[in-house]
Amino acid sequence: MKNADHNFWETTVPKIGEMLAQYVNRSQKLETQVLQQQEPSQLIKDLNTEQLFRAGFKNQEEVLEFTQTYLKNTNHLHHPHYMGHQVAVPHPISGIPDWIHGTANNPSSLYEMGPAGGALEGFMIHWMLDKLGWFKGSNYTDFNRYPDNGSGVLTHGGSVANLTALSAARAAIAPEAWTEGTPSDLVILGPSTSHYSIARAISIMGMGQKAYIPVEVDSNEVMIIEDLESVYTEETKKGKRIMAVVANACATSTGLYDPLEAIGQFCEKNKLWYHVDGAHGAVALLSDKEKNHLKGIEKADSLIWDAHKMMRVPALCTAVLFKNQWHQFNNFKQKGSYVFHPHEVVGMDSMPYTVECTKSALGTKLFWTFALEGEQKIIDYVDHCYQLALDFYELIQSQADFDAPYVPESNILCFRYEGKNPSDAFQLQLRYQLIETGDFYITSCEMNHKRYLRVVLIHPETQIKHLIALLDKIRIVASQIVTD
Ligand SMILES: Cc1ncc(COP(=O)(O)O)c(C=O)c1O
Repeated sequence: MKNADHNFWETTVPKIGEMLAQYVNRSQKLETQVLQQQEPSQLIKDLNTEQLFRAGFKNQEEVLEFTQTYLKNTNHLHHPHYMGHQVAVPHPISGIPDWIHGTANNPSSLYEMGPAGGALEGFMIHWMLDKLGWFKGSNYTDFNRYPDNGSGVLTHGGSVANLTALSAARAAIAPEAWTEGTPSDLVILGPSTSHYSIARAISIMGMGQKAYIPVEVDSNEVMIIEDLESVYTEETKKGKRIMAVVANACATSTGLYDPLEAIGQFCEKNKLWYHVDGAHGAVALLSDKEKNHLKGIEKADSLIWDAHKMMRVPALCTAVLFKNQWHQFNNFKQKGSYVFHPHEVVGMDSMPYTVECTKSALGTKLFWTFALEGEQKIIDYVDHCYQLALDFYELIQSQADFDAPYVPESNILCFRYEGKNPSDAFQLQLRYQLIETGDFYITSCEMNHKRYLRVVLIHPETQIKHLIALLDKIRIVASQIVTD
């Protein structure tokens, strides 16, 4: 299909726009299912994949038909019964920067390859640093390098960001590791419940899983500070050097925050690198009501913060932030005569500081989501989601057949249906059968060796009435499950 011949811009693009608007509207009004899963072999046929792959779209109808079928077979995050994984429900027109990027294709890692995206990234990084007290400039548009300023870059996701931060921690304690390999006496301390990307980063850096020394967690899987102290003493007695202490803000399964202030004080006292994984919960920094959960976060040396979780930005977009800018500058030590020219560049390049070489215009989509309705709207959204989890907790506690093990601190809550069969296998089956109905999408996880149902209340229009409907639906589904 030749764009110009078929008036692609004039006719097809507006039709796709209408289709997307309808997709969002129908999802929001509960006129669609949240998720309707098909076997991949069937789906690939429905999408007319083979023919389109070989012959290409022949006309507008084929483009629209494909788009319609594609949208039907998505997980409908705009449906208020979407309460599943920690993936943003984007503002309905948050996707426009992705569209612009898909046309202009300006990666923002080299300023000269994407000046607008690069400048917006710099602006948004300043804004994030400021939330931590790590920005010392006079305004976010001041791109001079002040010596006591923090620094940061946007990267493709929390997993890459954790790797970036831990690599910087390694560069700080063992700069020779870049050429000589990681010394075998380095260990990392953190809760046994850290996200698996921490474990991956450790193995990728050649340290091996044994280099992660888990600190005990309590019955809600929150790090026990006294155990951090004893693990530290034990490891140093063995002659190990502590490369970093990692904390959850908040934990993926439960949404609960580790005691950040106490961990920060401990790291300060013992001069240890403090890394906070705030992929999900750093967003509480925006809320006067919720930022108490992050007390002490400013003591961190590095922080990661996903915008594609709780800031309505489409995946992926993560900030990795450093209190001391030199930790970012000393992290990677690649040479690349075609890209790295530290003294001649106009503007700023993030390429020397990211795992990726080429990257998307991440700053543009982060900025755009705020620009759509202003900063206060995002703050209100965070407050709404966090409060809704508390309301849901109270609702559950008032029901004889449900139980939730802890008061939520974020918008994530684990709970169980106890009305029929309290076994772990039953909770899991319940979740699968519930999502099979297409009415709700929730997840499930283990906490403290027990299986739970889990919601992430991430849709701006999910309300308590939807959660009452969820409990009712769970009862119905449970009553249909045959158990021995
Ligand atoms: C605490 C935490 N860290 C890191 C990640 C990984 O982030 P991403 O999915 O952006 O790679 C997650 C994802 O859920 C997370 O919850």
